[in-house]
Amino acid sequence: MVNDYDKFAKERQEKLLKGETKPHRFSEKPMMKSMLPSLKGKRILMLGCGTGEESRLLKEFGATDITGIDLSSESIKIAKETYPDIEFIVGDMHKLPFEDSSFDFVYSSLAIHYSSEPQSVYQELYRILKPDGLLLFSVGHPLRWASEHMVVDDVEYIISGYAYPSSENRVFGNYNTFACHNHYFSNGEVLSFYTGSPSLHFKLLRESGFSIEDFKESICTDEAKDYDYNYWVKNHEIPQFMAFLAQKR
Ligand SMILES: C[S@@+](CC[C@H](N)C(=O)[O-])C[C@H]1O[C@@H](n2cnc3c(N)ncnc32)[C@H](O)[C@@H]1O
Repeated sequence: MVNDYDKFAKERQEKLLKGETKPHRFSEKPMMKSMLPSLKGKRILMLGCGTGEESRLLKEFGATDITGIDLSSESIKIAKETYPDIEFIVGDMHKLPFEDSSFDFVYSSLAIHYSSEPQSVYQELYRILKPDGLLLFSVGHPLRWASEHMVVDDVEYIISGYAYPSSENRVFGNYNTFACHNHYFSNGEVLSFYTGSPSLHFKLLRESGFSIEDFKESICTDEAKDYDYNYWVKNHEIPQFMAFLAQKR
């Protein structure tokens, strides 16, 4: 399922470079940017790097020594052509082809939520980070992605909540349960991903040996108001994504 990224890697890159990917431009990247430390002199791994666009952001923070890894060989092929100064490798986040204590910083945007076993990813990242090394990553927020879709009078609603009368047992969404969901793209592709609550990720990170240094939930920036007001209205109130900054202890 994950390798479907091969099929639309080029189309995805074109949209990213034109700034047409609203979740990236107005929600996820501003959140990640606000949490990035100086990257001068650091050895950096971009995990689930896709076609490598986030290297531009990392360079703004002083990064010069960057390695990108992704499961999608087509994405990596495009990344190598687009950013020839960066090393890109095809590989799986659950079994990374790096020595213990190799990196100072791991950056991962919207990739770890494709794992059905995030704890094994956190353990692997702990292994390849140097002592005191930092991990910054984002995943889908369960308030948005574990909500239930329903259609009422031809309008689609995305809802987390429940029917109020005490006799009603109807609950919409599964915020607390680590669960798999499908996302249907406009081009017909379907990807499966997982959501868990912030407290579940805190627990798994701590159990893997990390301390939590920062946590944020995305708020759509005001720049989106002119670009797509309806997008802004929803996504400045309901977080689409969340990000964790964790440190190897
Ligand atoms: C939503 S894209 C994000 C790409 C890039 N980080 C960005 O923000 O533009 C998710 C990426 O995770 C990659 N991915 C999914 N499962 C993976 C795994 N097990 N190991 C490495 N990469 C994986 C996909 O191939 C895809 O490129």
